[in-house]
Amino acid sequence: MMQRQKMVKIIIGNWKMHGDPAASAAWAAGVRERFPVLPAGVKAAVCPPATLIPVLAEMLLGSDFKLGGQDCHPQPHGPHTGDISAGMLKAVGCDYVIVGHSERRTEYKESSALVREKAAAAIRAGLTPIICVGETELEREAGHTAAIISQQIHDSIPPEANGGNFVLAYEPVWAIGSGKLPTNDEISQLHEMIIAETALRTGLATSAVSVLYGGSVKPANAREILAINNVSGVLVGGASVKAEDFCAIIAAASE
Ligand code: PGA
Repeated sequence: MMQRQKMVKIIIGNWKMHGDPAASAAWAAGVRERFPVLPAGVKAAVCPPATLIPVLAEMLLGSDFKLGGQDCHPQPHGPHTGDISAGMLKAVGCDYVIVGHSERRTEYKESSALVREKAAAAIRAGLTPIICVGETELEREAGHTAAIISQQIHDSIPPEANGGNFVLAYEPVWAIGSGKLPTNDEISQLHEMIIAETALRTGLATSAVSVLYGGSVKPANAREILAINNVSGVLVGGASVKAEDFCAIIAAASE
């Protein structure tokens, strides 16, 4: 089995459609108090609803905590009611943007081709796209996990991708918000497969590909997940909304 020694662990919070300005201010104060400086080798970012990005940008200014959007439009501007471009996220202080989250692939029928355009737009705007892939429960039960993920990788990663300008997130759809997780071996093997496929797709060295795990990551299981071979970090939904839980996951990354 491929052994990878990754120094940096990336912890990303995805608040989804949760939060308000007062709670965001309290969250930012909480994480800054707990981590005036992030532990060596740990990067952390939060992806709140777009309306809360300016509040958090102000509250996190001068800290090690970075910001991200939860989605972006492929175009830089134009007649796209309700959408936000990657450049707009960058302009209010974001460094990251999640693209192709399964909730968007499902609710808005986003195709991998669209995800690829969004990821390319993010890279052009100077953001790091977090490109999500993962199988549904039905696909898993049918034994199609590897085929589905390979296809998503092939179709979702843009030609602009190079070693340092994107990360992948493996999020089994059935593990999101469910409390159910793959085994550690399954996570390790799937990450190894994702790394190999991505290297093949992009021509990058496998050591240049970072894959986060997402789906029911909590303070109680974070240390174990972060220690799995081939896991470069975690994408955290529910547990990222509470500052205390998010900080506990960051602490687990540095143990
Ligand atoms: P969860 O969500 O941590 O609440 O399972 C993860 C995600 O959807 O990114």
